[in-house]
Amino acid sequence: MSWFSSADESAHYGSSVCILLQHYCRELGWEQAGVLELGSGDASAIADAVRVLPRLRVHSYDISASSVDQARENIAVRGVADRYTVEVGDFFERAHAAGGASPPTVIANPGYLPAPDCDIRMPELWGGPSGHDQVLELLKAGFEHVVTTVPSYSDPVATLETARDLGYRVVNFVAMGLDFGPYSSEPKVHAQIRRLCAEGRGWAGEDEYMVAVALFTRDPEFPGDRATHLLRVLQLQV
Ligand SMILES: C[S@@+](CC[C@H](N)C(=O)[O-])C[C@H]1O[C@@H](n2cnc3c(N)ncnc32)[C@H](O)[C@@H]1O
Repeated sequence: MSWFSSADESAHYGSSVCILLQHYCRELGWEQAGVLELGSGDASAIADAVRVLPRLRVHSYDISASSVDQARENIAVRGVADRYTVEVGDFFERAHAAGGASPPTVIANPGYLPAPDCDIRMPELWGGPSGHDQVLELLKAGFEHVVTTVPSYSDPVATLETARDLGYRVVNFVAMGLDFGPYSSEPKVHAQIRRLCAEGRGWAGEDEYMVAVALFTRDPEFPGDRATHLLRVLQLQV
């Protein structure tokens, strides 16, 4: 299989995005503006959310052509092709090209595997030596609202510090424990995870870790900041 396949993680991402979009529907304004997605993968996660939320429109980019082929099949099977569209391309190039025409909200389960270099089982999932490079790039892309996964082993303290420095607050999140799968068990990745945890820059249990799907915003209309709660749930000492 040449596209990302991790049923538990995709289900967590899809259902958490659905909960957060539904709960903050008015504030995010997605019924009018739609949302963009970085990385459809096989699209099963968000196609289900689009089916549940009849006014949701998602436009997604995935850098992997085989993912997009599979995504289009899965979207068609679920009958939501009119509201969930997928294109091959680098999200960051395409989103910049759209400029001010972009919706204010982006959703993503970006690659977050830490490793010294990108020579890993699926290079598209590489998140740099700390694992959080793709999330940081997304936070720097200028969107008003960002719904993204934040894993416990990819230096979440630094991720949240960068988010705060960029003017984002954590509005809310949905967290879940996940077992290590084939991607995070790859020896090179696993060793880097252990290194980050030993340095106090992440948390992982014997064969599990935590992943939160968090809503970040720069909009002053959203009250509060749950960044500390999020780090505690990810098992980080704060
Ligand atoms: C962890 S997978 C998530 C897939 C899907 N959202 C899910 O949760 O099942 C990340 C996806 O992002 C894609 N990707 C990585 N970098 C990208 C980029 N710069 N632009 C668009 N897609 C990218 C990968 O090809 C991969 O399909």
